[in-house]
Amino acid sequence: MAKVTFVQPDGSARTCVNFEGMTLMQLAVGNLVDGIDALCGGMMQCATCHCYIDPDWLDRTGPARPEEREMLEAIDGVEIRPNSRLSCQVQLGEELDGLVVHIPAEQPGI
Ligand code: FES
Repeated sequence: MAKVTFVQPDGSARTCVNFEGMTLMQLAVGNLVDGIDALCGGMMQCATCHCYIDPDWLDRTGPARPEEREMLEAIDGVEIRPNSRLSCQVQLGEELDGLVVHIPAEQPGI
């Protein structure tokens, strides 16, 4: 199990606990975290699961892979930063216990 804290654009934060095998997106959706809609269900087709990994954690999650970045760039309304990730592509494990994730102010409208 690993705890993940989701920080909203207004600074409010919520910590959720994941179970074995979940992705960051599944944890957010399962806990009704605002701002992670994940409309394609994790198929890397929508970018509505976009999030910003806290810079302190980026070395552990790694940056977006080329195919993630392509998806982010293909959708209007996404403010891409060096720490942008598609949360459906971040597999949670013990090494990410304590992870902090920031929710974008706006997600793309699909
Ligand atoms: S849920 Fe659609 S790209 Fe991640």
